[in-house]
Amino acid sequence: MGVLIRNGEIVTSEGRYFADIYVEDQTITQIGKDLDVPEGTEVIDATGKLIFPGFVDPHVHIHLPFMGTFAKDTYETASVAALIGGTTSLIEMCCPSRQEDALAAYRLWKSKAEGRSACDYAFHMAVTRFDAQTEAQLREIVADGTASFKVFLSYKGFFGVDDGELYQTLKLARELGVIVTAHCENAELVSRLQQDLLAAGKIGPEWHEPSRPETVEAEGTGRFAAFLETTGATGYVVHLSCAPALKAALEAKARGVKLSVESVLPHFLLDKSYAERDGIEGMKFVMSPPLRDRRNQTVLWNALDGGEIDTVGTDHCPFDVEQKLLGKDAFTAIPNGIPGVEDRVNLMYTYGVKRGRLNLHRFVDALSTRASKLFGLYPRKGEIAVGSDADLVIYDPAYRGTISARAQHVNCDYSGFEGVEIEGRPALVLVRGKVQVREGEFVGERGRGEFLRRKPEGGVNAS
Ligand code: URP
Ligand code: ZN
Ligand code: ZN
Repeated sequence: MGVLIRNGEIVTSEGRYFADIYVEDQTITQIGKDLDVPEGTEVIDATGKLIFPGFVDPHVHIHLPFMGTFAKDTYETASVAALIGGTTSLIEMCCPSRQEDALAAYRLWKSKAEGRSACDYAFHMAVTRFDAQTEAQLREIVADGTASFKVFLSYKGFFGVDDGELYQTLKLARELGVIVTAHCENAELVSRLQQDLLAAGKIGPEWHEPSRPETVEAEGTGRFAAFLETTGATGYVVHLSCAPALKAALEAKARGVKLSVESVLPHFLLDKSYAERDGIEGMKFVMSPPLRDRRNQTVLWNALDGGEIDTVGTDHCPFDVEQKLLGKDAFTAIPNGIPGVEDRVNLMYTYGVKRGRLNLHRFVDALSTRASKLFGLYPRKGEIAVGSDADLVIYDPAYRGTISARAQHVNCDYSGFEGVEIEGRPALVLVRGKVQVREGEFVGERGRGEFLRRKPEGGVNAS
């Protein structure tokens, strides 16, 4: 049976207009006024609502062994939370440690999602070691449809690669036409600063930011750009947090380096004073790159609105209070990360679009369309057009509510946005034509999510 959505206002990255949408077999098959549809069609009335393409979160952690523990979510919890927040596709970082086998890890990460995800999903494959075996395995992983890599220039000895491995990864990526996403911080500087601070008795969460200052991120960003320039590979800086790192990225872009920039939800709305709170209250806000001085927020909002920051992800990575307390005697042991997948759309809509900081179409672009284009999902995802998947968010701009850990679907006992008001939320969320969320409740099919196979953009040897 088909689905007709009528009386809503369609809003894409390029325009807005009133039209009906008809969906058949998971796909948008007609868009137009007063569509003539078969009898028995399910009709959804979207009067007073905005209709967005399903949102895409390009940076999520679900299964993540990290800092002596595991991130709290499973696909059962994270995918439902994502959908309630309007995210219909997510890209999870598949992150083996340096000691693990890449292919075995890739199969493990996939098995955690298969049959369990309520939303569609893909992976960025982290390259945490590069040797002859890894190279063969990466080729197999790309052939399987995972056409993006991830490198960490930080987390020395765990996820981090050295410059030689970075070079080899980028050379392979260039050959295969694979985009490489990168966490850009100088691992050696972080390690030295951490040791110095601890030796001086500076052990609380307020010292996390001084251990990874803006210069450390700017260096990582500039070095990644230089390696891209040298190898000709295409790159994407994840979770860029501050003005000096943005400057390094924009200078590289201006030189013609193929580089895109992502910033993540916490850095637009929270600042380093949150991590300076006493004890556990500060620990909740420890993430990397750290929350920054407030002056960076204006820089990020302006760059986002202007399109210099390409995408907004979450870097969703929940650890609960008990896990955060692993770092009660040393900030270096606080698991890094904060939840966000459920709140990204509503918070960026409220504090970006509604506050006049972010153009509505740029909002759709940054949270959906641009990531789809960069990561090989477009026009299947990130668009409302005939032939695209019917991933649709029927958004209620009149809704008013407050974020609270008590009500969230993410598996975490706190929210970094506790008590923050939102002005709008998804009334209905459809994944490939099926209603999965209605008025904040999951009403759909838990295993509906599909693995999204992506093709590389065409490497140097592609015909
Ligand atoms: O603090 C963070 N960002 N935790 C997740 C791992 C990463 O670096 O993305
Ligand atoms: Zn990172
Ligand atoms: Zn991350």
